[in-house]
Amino acid sequence: MSVFKHFLAGASLLALSTTANAVDLEVTHWWTSGGEAAAVAEFAKAFDATGNKWVDGAIAGSGGTARPIMISRITGGDPMAATQFNHGRQAEELVEAGLMRDLTDIATAEGWKDKVRPSSLLDSCTLDGKIYCVPVNIHSQQWLWLSNKAFEDAGVAVPTNWDEFAAAAPALEKAGKIPLAMGQQPWQTTLAFQVLLVALAGPEAYSKIFGEKDAELAGGPDLAKVFEAAEQARAMSAGSNVQDWNQATNMVITGQAGGQIMGDWAQGEFAVAGQVAGTDYTCLPGLGVNEVIQTGGDAFYFPVLKDEAKTAAQGELAKLMMSPEVQVAFNLKKGSLPVRGDVSLDAANDCMKKGLDILAKGNVIQSPDQLMSADSLTQVNDLFVEFFNTPSITAADAQKRFADIVASAD
Ligand code: GAL
Repeated sequence: MSVFKHFLAGASLLALSTTANAVDLEVTHWWTSGGEAAAVAEFAKAFDATGNKWVDGAIAGSGGTARPIMISRITGGDPMAATQFNHGRQAEELVEAGLMRDLTDIATAEGWKDKVRPSSLLDSCTLDGKIYCVPVNIHSQQWLWLSNKAFEDAGVAVPTNWDEFAAAAPALEKAGKIPLAMGQQPWQTTLAFQVLLVALAGPEAYSKIFGEKDAELAGGPDLAKVFEAAEQARAMSAGSNVQDWNQATNMVITGQAGGQIMGDWAQGEFAVAGQVAGTDYTCLPGLGVNEVIQTGGDAFYFPVLKDEAKTAAQGELAKLMMSPEVQVAFNLKKGSLPVRGDVSLDAANDCMKKGLDILAKGNVIQSPDQLMSADSLTQVNDLFVEFFNTPSITAADAQKRFADIVASAD
């Protein structure tokens, strides 16, 4: 670039840029569905407006596919500038190995401790008193998304809770619908089980099992009814031959399926399809039984880089992700709730308002990633993949295996 051109480029960026040197930053994440892509574009837009450039490193196929790739790049000496993980313990070993940048200075200067709610989100970013990530949203899994059209076609009222939904399955089937849409990515079956657990056995049982690793409770009668419901869910989802979660959401959007148990990121898909909460679809937090939400979600980590300009730009991106404007723009598209309590979400739809209301009441639990190690969760995942794909495994067999996993979990 000639000196003159360089000067011009620099001058035109001056108004926007707060960095001395504008740089490209590669950011990896697994947000590739329509709603997710729309949301991540808000981050990119805001970052590009600083004069730097967001180089999008989307990895298709959900967290289960993306995380090993991200981790091997970081441990293999080819780090990206920033990367998504879920809130919790997924990046613990990378932090312990000194591969992640300490953001404590930025967090302190920006007053994150006073702004982030619930405080568990920042705690999940903290190791030995130092802050290593920026929580960007609150995503909860405890939702049943229902297609109003599917129930209309089947001639039954839109259910208000899990039991009514299960009771409507024969009518849905008669109308040619799959009662429960379920994708085949491993985490989706585990998610469905965890949501059933919180709804039917209650949030305390969930926290005792995943947090305190209470194997007796996991093997006991309260959990037996959850496993029976999981068996029911398995039968209701037979025939939903889709892989990705958003393909399953699409079955609900188009009325081919009655409902889907899925995190609130499904809202991004309904929004992209132009559907309206309450009119086209209905959402039941806590399956209409126990209205609590899990304050899981996504956080961005910044691998240690040797390049000074990139390191400075990382800091800018971290601040920006937490800024009020970006928090609102991103979360409205993502279907998640902002991590700051001091922003207004007037544009929130009915389902997000339900989520905000539950959050305000303090009816929250932590996500499995915050409570259990990644290794133990992989074992749980494997069990539910097998259970949902093998009708010959009874509820009782699966429960016994689950209790054994909990007994040795950390
Ligand atoms: C979760 C993530 C969400 C959403 C979902 C499906 O792990 O927290 O943001 O993207 O995966 O991809």
